[in-house]
Amino acid sequence: MKSLSGKVVVITGGNSGIGLASAHAFKTAGAKVIVNARNEERLQQTRQEYPNAFDDIFIADVTKVDQIESFYQQVANKYGQIDLLFLNAGIALFAPIEAIDEAFYDNIFNVNVKGVLFGIQKALPHLNEGSSIQITSSVVNQMGMPNASVYAATKAAVRSITRTIAAELAERKIRVNSISPGPIETPIFGKMGMAEEQVGEMAGSILSQVPLGRFGQAEEIAQAAIFLAQNDYVTGTEIVVDGGMSQL
Ligand SMILES: NC(=O)c1ccc[n+]([C@@H]2O[C@H](COP(=O)([O-])OP(=O)(O)OC[C@H]3O[C@@H](n4cnc5c(N)ncnc54)[C@H](OP(=O)(O)O)[C@@H]3O)[C@@H](O)[C@H]2O)c1
Repeated sequence: MKSLSGKVVVITGGNSGIGLASAHAFKTAGAKVIVNARNEERLQQTRQEYPNAFDDIFIADVTKVDQIESFYQQVANKYGQIDLLFLNAGIALFAPIEAIDEAFYDNIFNVNVKGVLFGIQKALPHLNEGSSIQITSSVVNQMGMPNASVYAATKAAVRSITRTIAAELAERKIRVNSISPGPIETPIFGKMGMAEEQVGEMAGSILSQVPLGRFGQAEEIAQAAIFLAQNDYVTGTEIVVDGGMSQL
């Protein structure tokens, strides 16, 4: 098994949910883990709440290309070239087609797609030959889920970006893959701007579609991230971790 000891791992959205669990998994495997925070307030909060979850944290709102660029520059200045980039920061907002507007669309696309595409571009000069890029997509990239037109489109976009960039970077032996989680128990459900009752209803409806009958744990996504980091013959693909939701 390829050792991750001493590898430089960058995880966006590494201060919450799937990213945080992945930071823990990579740190346990001996990697140096660097994450971002959206702003100064989140940076301070994160340092207080999780003083040992990662090696370092810098500010980067992934919707701001200048901040993305300076984030990777700071990482490289302090830690050298990057071995693994996990582009995981994302938001999930849901609304029926009649209710969405331009600001709703821009908000989700800016975080979930622009953040990923320019994340790759700005990290590229700092990536080692043979490094690995992982992107968090979602099972909704291949399912018709009501109220998810914008969110699902962003996740299909990053699934497509995975294929294209994998083809572009194969020459440098840089592998690019997606992880597509089904419903995972993380703080994301509390950030949807919905009343608790509405979130409960949505969760119940999602749960009824999961053959294994439960939400997944963030650690189960982190396991997929570790697999992708260690297997040098996987690129351009997607690992689905969804309790069978999209497959059965
Ligand atoms: N949980 C699920 O059921 C599920 C299913 C499929 C796919 N996913 C995907 O998994 C990824 C991680 O989600 P999660 O469930 O772990 O949710 P989460 O706990 O809310 O984590 C999302 C992370 O992204 C960060 N983020 C959001 N907007 C950002 C911005 N503009 N700049 C920088 N960072 C930003 C968040 O920072 P703050 O905490 O400061 O907001 C947080 O660290 C997302 O891409 C999501 O779409 C989740």
